[in-house]
Amino acid sequence: MITTERLILRPPVPADAVRIAELVGDFEVARWVSTVPHPYAPEDALTWMATHDAGRAADTDNPLAITTAADGLVGMTGLHRKPEYGGLFEIGYWIGKPYWGRGYATEAGRALLAWAEARGETAFVSRHFEGNAASGKVLTKLGFVYTGERGLLRSRAHAGAEMVTLEMRRPG
Ligand SMILES: CC(C)(COP(=O)(O)OP(=O)(O)OC[C@H]1O[C@@H](n2cnc3c(N)ncnc32)[C@H](O)[C@@H]1OP(=O)(O)O)[C@@H](O)C(=O)NCCC(=O)NCCS
Repeated sequence: MITTERLILRPPVPADAVRIAELVGDFEVARWVSTVPHPYAPEDALTWMATHDAGRAADTDNPLAITTAADGLVGMTGLHRKPEYGGLFEIGYWIGKPYWGRGYATEAGRALLAWAEARGETAFVSRHFEGNAASGKVLTKLGFVYTGERGLLRSRAHAGAEMVTLEMRRPG
């Protein structure tokens, strides 16, 4: 568990499935997150959560629910080790649309990166789909810079279509 001024980050539990589906089921959220299908049912959240114990045990994936005292679960974040980036952690996140613009993604990201740094991680990578200016802004606020590398990632919410990604890194 990671605590910030306004947020508690904690592992998601099956009781969160309906809420996760409600928030990430919004295409305006799902369209920017490559791994999220659309439409999204609570069962999708349960299937996803069933993979978490293995990811944590292997130290490859650390998904955390972003929660507030007033609204409960408002988003998700996580660190995911990427073999294609030499085992660096990639940070990912989404915030439910009703909660955009409050600084939650930045506050959660800052705390998660500090947590990882305290465990010896130094550099981080992230990618966002071309056109996702808000995510680029969050990553910039977190100290990431564009590398100029463009790539392609399949978007499940776009029926598996490949979409252009922009790579950013936070040097150690
Ligand atoms: C990207 C996302 C996580 C941002 O969450 P958030 O809690 O609103 O982010 P923050 O409030 O911490 O910061 C957002 C910043 O982007 C800016 N922003 C928002 N929309 C923007 C836009 N269309 N163009 C440019 N900047 C934008 C905000 O002004 C803010 O910057 P500021 O603090 O300098 O004013 C949220 O919009 C989201 O979940 N989007 C869909 C999923 C997604 O994109 N996930 C990331 C995949 S790489």
